[in-house]
Amino acid sequence: MVNIADMNKEDFLPLYGTDYIEFYVSNSLQAARYYQSSFGFQPLAYSGLSTGNNEFQSYVVQQDKIRLVFTSPLKGGLEIGKHIDKHGDGVKVIALLVDDSKNALEQTVTRGAECAHRYKKYKDENGTLEVSGIKSYGDTVHYFINRSDYRGVFLPGYKKWKCSYSPKQVGLKFVDHMVGNVGWNEMNIWAKFYREVMGFSQLVSFDDKDISTDYTALMSKVMSNDNGRIKFPINEPAEGKKSSQIEEYLNFYEGPGVQHIAMATDNIIETVTQLKDRGVEFLHVPSEYYDTVMERVGEIDEELEPLKKLRILIDRDDEGYLLQIFTKPVGPRPTVFYEIIQRKGAKSFGKGNFKALFEAIELEQSKRGTL
Ligand code: FE2
Repeated sequence: MVNIADMNKEDFLPLYGTDYIEFYVSNSLQAARYYQSSFGFQPLAYSGLSTGNNEFQSYVVQQDKIRLVFTSPLKGGLEIGKHIDKHGDGVKVIALLVDDSKNALEQTVTRGAECAHRYKKYKDENGTLEVSGIKSYGDTVHYFINRSDYRGVFLPGYKKWKCSYSPKQVGLKFVDHMVGNVGWNEMNIWAKFYREVMGFSQLVSFDDKDISTDYTALMSKVMSNDNGRIKFPINEPAEGKKSSQIEEYLNFYEGPGVQHIAMATDNIIETVTQLKDRGVEFLHVPSEYYDTVMERVGEIDEELEPLKKLRILIDRDDEGYLLQIFTKPVGPRPTVFYEIIQRKGAKSFGKGNFKALFEAIELEQSKRGTL
């Protein structure tokens, strides 16, 4: 739980939410199309050859407060291409909304961050937008974006992506949390980074006794900024009988990186029904999970049957309950995946589901021969 001393100190890095998440991918148009058709994201903005950008092509899609950017290089030798060669498709930038981008960089660099993007003011006919950025785990970076004086569609250099194809949204609202996988014995290093460099507090911590099955073991600390809008759980692998899911991720991603993005909905049954209709694949939890779940979580507003049919998981904490479900990895490498979450008071992360969940992941690992 949040430390009182932490709560009383002034927030030197006010963050107002996730501005966007940028993926480096090998085919940005096809990736954007996938998120349109399968997840109901709407076309927003484009940058590429037709906007005078000869370096890379980006498509931006949006659903409520969630903005995703898919970027591919237009030539060899760029950092974007190198990132894709090493990691496969993955998250490069977690952009955070600030009201003073220059100060955000100064505050964090003073506390030990490494600069990833020098402070810069971009101007175009739509106003001014400020960007700066720092390095985080692996090759992932955080950008600090101030768009209070900017009225353009996304960032300077981007034009509206006019696209007649726009399947309906599925009710995804905002980024609830984003999980990073880091290497052996690195969880505390990165928890310290978020605490000291970015002023976050630790909400919870799980050790291998909480999170272990016969095979998998991991440890996790959940770091949150002052207003709770940004939550970054940090996982590291722990010693298990066989290769844990975190190790598998680290092997395939070739280092630390973003493991999953949790997107919130107000109606998980409706959202997941639509996602399944559109071909999104979820981890399959055995039906036995539902034999005992009500004893564990008590009364809930929803009928159990549709939750069971969709294989949505339920967990309760002191403040309420939550409903959650996890997709299979969305790319060729078993790395990035999504969580769909509906909170009904609960502020936790589904600890009661870990065992059922990890057994489902292990089943997939054994199919891949990576257990
Ligand atoms: Fe999660």
